[in-house]
Amino acid sequence: MPDGAQPVLDVRDLKTVFRTRSGEVHAVNSVSFDLRPGELLGVVGESGSGKSVTMMSLIGLVPMPPAEMRGGEVLFGGQDLLRAGPAAMRAIRGKRIGFVFQDPMTSLNPVFTVGYQLCEPLRRHMGLSKAAARKRAAELLDLVGIPDAARRLSDYPHQFSGGMRQRVMIAMALACDPEVLIADEPTTALDVTIQAQILELVKDLRQKLGMAIIWITHDLGVIAGIADRVLVMYGGQIVEHAPVRELFANPQHPYTRALLKTVPSVRGDRAPRLRVIEGQPPILTAAPDACPFRFRCGHRFDRCDAENPPRFPTGPAHDAACFWDPATDAPRNA
Ligand SMILES: Nc1ncnc2c1ncn2[C@@H]1O[C@H](COP(=O)(O)OP(=O)(O)O)[C@@H](O)[C@H]1O
Ligand SMILES: [Mg+2]
Repeated sequence: MPDGAQPVLDVRDLKTVFRTRSGEVHAVNSVSFDLRPGELLGVVGESGSGKSVTMMSLIGLVPMPPAEMRGGEVLFGGQDLLRAGPAAMRAIRGKRIGFVFQDPMTSLNPVFTVGYQLCEPLRRHMGLSKAAARKRAAELLDLVGIPDAARRLSDYPHQFSGGMRQRVMIAMALACDPEVLIADEPTTALDVTIQAQILELVKDLRQKLGMAIIWITHDLGVIAGIADRVLVMYGGQIVEHAPVRELFANPQHPYTRALLKTVPSVRGDRAPRLRVIEGQPPILTAAPDACPFRFRCGHRFDRCDAENPPRFPTGPAHDAACFWDPATDAPRNA
């Protein structure tokens, strides 16, 4: 994909704060990234690093209150989603931007058949007749690899296995032919074999349908196999951004380097979990005016306590938010 291509989605300086009894939680702290046509952008980071809140914020699904948007822009097709009204957002969400969440049981309604739930957006957003929607729904189930698709439209969510339910969720997200698909840890709850099948399916669908995908995971192994570029999140911030091979070959941020050490060279039957990094996750109630990783970092020095490092360019299409330079094993001259 050409580097200069106009992004599908351009997120700038996104800030989301939760106001809680124990103070403000800086869940998303000045997050900026773009999504390019047809690419698969991986987002990786341990639990609580702000991955979900970032994505929910940009499609207007973060609950306000307790959340408060403190700034930023989300440019999509010439408009700023943060300033689009509720009606405009309803026309975009689920239609031009599809999403899949971790647990299909919370997103699929148990009292309606899968066919009904697939047809509903097709009728509402695409204006299809009942018969046309039913036909398209069967095609969608077929597309995501559900055998005997037409008949299974009459089944309820609980009649599908976990992996098949996740396929139904993907079919629903794809129903209106979205330009962007956001998948938030969609395979985490599945066993490794099913996980691999879903990843294959998504790779295949991307080839066929050409949409851009944001794939969120806490599993670097998953990212390695499917992403073009990767954002590494820590403490509500993007701490590193690079093309996937570059990230694995030449990691810059101490957090990314620690993560990579947790990925076994030969994948066992269990995906590597990021929580094996020593130390406590950052406390997001602290104002983000110092490096969020400093307490777990082996390269910490005075400046890390006094300033929050900006994202330094460290190579073409590669940046890292760290004052330490792994090339010289010394503080950066910046
Ligand atoms: N409704 C909420 N109220 C207060 N804090 C929240 C709420 N939702 C999320 N958070 C906080 O925002 C931070 C980021 O959470 P999240 O984006 O869900 O992390 P991830 O998806 O990376 O696991 C966490 O510290 C979490 O506790
Ligand atoms: Mg999450």
